[in-house]
Amino acid sequence: MTTREVVRDFDRISPAYDATREPLEPAALDRMAEQLRTAGVSSILEVGVGTGRVARPLLDRGFAVTGLDASWGMLSHARGKRLPRLVHGSAYRLPFDRGAFDATLFVHVLHLLDRPLEALSEAGRVSRRGTFALVRPPADPLRRGRDAHRARRIVYRILAEQGYPMPSRDDGPGGKEREILARFPPDEMTVVYDRTETAPLSRPLEMLSRRAHRHLLDIPEEVVDRAVAAARKEVGDATFTFRRVETLAAWRVPLRPPAAA
Ligand SMILES: C[S@@+](CC[C@H](N)C(=O)[O-])C[C@H]1O[C@@H](n2cnc3c(N)ncnc32)[C@H](O)[C@@H]1O
Repeated sequence: MTTREVVRDFDRISPAYDATREPLEPAALDRMAEQLRTAGVSSILEVGVGTGRVARPLLDRGFAVTGLDASWGMLSHARGKRLPRLVHGSAYRLPFDRGAFDATLFVHVLHLLDRPLEALSEAGRVSRRGTFALVRPPADPLRRGRDAHRARRIVYRILAEQGYPMPSRDDGPGGKEREILARFPPDEMTVVYDRTETAPLSRPLEMLSRRAHRHLLDIPEEVVDRAVAAARKEVGDATFTFRRVETLAAWRVPLRPPAAA
């Protein structure tokens, strides 16, 4: 997907974003903050800051955070959280001087970029100490994706049967992130959160029922509602147990990404 398409989707999703995405656990934020402090970081540029879901708690933990995003819609919600420094711009051309920040940070953004290595390289240019990215683990021992996305797959199947173009495979951002990490291995990977949790299989349906998902944005509300209701019936009150793992990848400066992006 091009940046233009991604941004158009996030503009539309932005009003429902916070209500439909799980917040990062305080324990994950604390551990991430600890890692950043240990690396000598106090000023951060968060690229793809979105609604400030992570920037706000980092600010509250004493970091000087500047947030950049290409979506005006997402930025308007970040503004509502009183983030003092927000900038509209592209991950590929950051409007800052070389070494303007201690660190750059990507949280659940890399998988959305069509040229992630180029964005990492640009982030490296404005960072004095390193570039960090919060990502899913390189390998998922409990196969979180398979079960977690079962309800979503039911909705996709129903919609595809009705002629709406749906992805044949959508197991979340993990696969794309793993590919990026393999092409451009970080210097360090630190697990900042690792817990086994049990949740209703129907939980992802909340996000879908509000059409806060890019594949559903152009499908009429009543069609999505019917598909979600059918999926809810099919999964019933079953639960799934999964391991939630958040990992902080760190590329130290000087950062030299491979030439091919
Ligand atoms: C999944 S959201 C993550 C937001 C935030 N980091 C969080 O964890 O809640 C991805 C964000 O990246 C932004 N984004 C995607 N492509 C971008 C690009 N090329 N330049 C700047 N921002 C971009 C989107 O607009 C969106 O706000």
